[in-house]
Amino acid sequence: MAAPIQSIRGMNDVLPAEIGLWQYLEGVLRNLLAAYGYAEIRVPVLEHTQLFERAIGEHTDVVEKEMYTFQDQGGESLTLRPEATAGIARALISNGMLRGARHKLWCMGPMFRHEKPQKGRYRQFHQVSVEAVGFAGPDADIELIAFMARLWRTLGIQRVRLQINSLGTPESRRAYRAALTEHLRAHESRLDADSRRRLTSNPLRILDSKLPETQALLAGAPLLTEHLDAESRAHFEALCSALRGMDIPFEVNPRLVRGLDYYSRTVFEWITDALGSQDAVCSGGRYDGLIEQLGGDPTPGIGFAMGIERTVELLRQAQHSAPASPADVYLIAHGERAAPHALELVERLRDSLPQVRFEVNLGGGNFKAQFRRADRSGATLAVILGDEELGRGAAALKPLREESGQSECPLAELPARIEAVIAGAARRTVGG
Ligand code: HAM
Repeated sequence: MAAPIQSIRGMNDVLPAEIGLWQYLEGVLRNLLAAYGYAEIRVPVLEHTQLFERAIGEHTDVVEKEMYTFQDQGGESLTLRPEATAGIARALISNGMLRGARHKLWCMGPMFRHEKPQKGRYRQFHQVSVEAVGFAGPDADIELIAFMARLWRTLGIQRVRLQINSLGTPESRRAYRAALTEHLRAHESRLDADSRRRLTSNPLRILDSKLPETQALLAGAPLLTEHLDAESRAHFEALCSALRGMDIPFEVNPRLVRGLDYYSRTVFEWITDALGSQDAVCSGGRYDGLIEQLGGDPTPGIGFAMGIERTVELLRQAQHSAPASPADVYLIAHGERAAPHALELVERLRDSLPQVRFEVNLGGGNFKAQFRRADRSGATLAVILGDEELGRGAAALKPLREESGQSECPLAELPARIEAVIAGAARRTVGG
């Protein structure tokens, strides 16, 4: 026997038993995004490698270590998207959608990063990315954060905390970078190898280090918030005071720098203690220079991406169970003459009752086996098409969820009878 083919490490199947929570989350997201005036955009999963190098930054973990990059048959270097913001910015430029225009957009789908897989961290994972492009003021920052706060409330997820920070402008960040580098250089020998390398390439990322010794060195380091330019400070203060006004709790984390280079001013992250070491559920920030850097008209922007797998896990922990949606009616065909008529009959019933969910027995089986399947399907009603009933132009009805007996019904009256039984069952469910 041939060896079975394995799935790729860190790339998961979402099985029918798990899909309910995904669909529930996706449905809530779609409705809420529409209610806030965000429109869907779908961008390709593959882009030129250069897009991510230029947008995310060459000295980031994502670009240095985590991209799925390959040459296609034409010799072009292509990359599976590690995130969606770069592709959305590229799409706005290549479709001529900027020129002072504003866009509120969202994009949902798979992203790819060659990270070390563990609980909550995968190589193919899913994000919903929400972007407000063309808005320079803090109002867009406030709306996006208010949106997320409402989403958590709607989903009944409580174990999340909001952290925010401001990275200032590229100029103010340069001044901070110099001050931070000077501080850390004085203690270079105590830095780990990764941080020492970052000292020249990307010193702000050292702030993110999880190592206790590095964290101790950082205790006395200068803070980003002390180096903000006046405009960035005003922008940040407007955001903080609006959040207070809306009763959205937050913490200012002066060490929050984010792992992608395109950010400026506001950055934020919703973190949780419910997912082990993978604590970020939703992260984002402002990227006022990104579009210009990619060759578009200078256009500010802000957005975030929420990790779908991590949010589904929070939903699961919050004891959410997506409502199962079993069939309403299970059609059993019993006998040599009846069997070929079953599919024809169920198609006619589907024509008459498009709102009713029918399942027809496939794969044959004797009456007992078919009846067992009907019972297990969760359907409310079994419709039994047998040779004898068919001879009389009728079918039998057997309610599956109550103690009433079997009855016969002329085929012509079936749609009306089925509708009445299903409506009656729905009324009883609602009435408790
Ligand atoms: P990010 O922080 O790289 O930001 O990812 C956003 C979210 O995606 C994370 O908070 C996390 O929930 C989820 N995530 C990231 N990597 C993984 C992984 N390997 N496995 C499972 N979930 C993961 C961005 O991607 C930016 N594009 C966000 C943004 C949009 N900024 C502005 N607009």
